[in-house]
Amino acid sequence: MFTGSDYGNLRGSEFWKSLLVDLDHLLHPNDHFITSFANAAAFLGQSMEDINWCGFYFFDGKKLFLGPFCGKPACTEIQLGDGVCGAAARTKETVVVNDVSTFTGHIVCDADSRSEIVLPLIDPHGELIGVLDIDSPSLSRFDSFDIQGLEQVRDLVMRKLLASGYTTLFKQ
Ligand code: SME
Repeated sequence: MFTGSDYGNLRGSEFWKSLLVDLDHLLHPNDHFITSFANAAAFLGQSMEDINWCGFYFFDGKKLFLGPFCGKPACTEIQLGDGVCGAAARTKETVVVNDVSTFTGHIVCDADSRSEIVLPLIDPHGELIGVLDIDSPSLSRFDSFDIQGLEQVRDLVMRKLLASGYTTLFKQ
């Protein structure tokens, strides 16, 4: 199985192009949706340089709860509007924070985190499914290639989820 260690010196759009091809092969429509999210988190965690946390929070209709991830144990629940994750969930927009110490309300799960990107997962009806959250120990880790690449990763994961017969799996 591809582990992400073969990317060598690929950077920018070339890195993301290769990663997306491999992630597409890794995620099988017949896998349980939790399996796909778990492998996606592990794959990103292995493939992206200079990150210390990568994973999913799901939305149960009221709050975000911790899903599959790669990194240190993290806070289990986040209210809408709280922290970077809650901001992305509430606005349904990607949030990039170059220096988490400047983000009012940032939730510290791993004290090593310096910058962060959170992308919302939205279903075709516009309903919030959850978020993809990635932290780095470096300031300003995420550039425009990463934003675009991760939005494509998010879209791919959502396509796999919908192909697996998703309806409203996370709602209480
Ligand atoms: N820093 C996030 C909390 C989640 S952890 O980074 C895994 C936030 O402010 O929402």
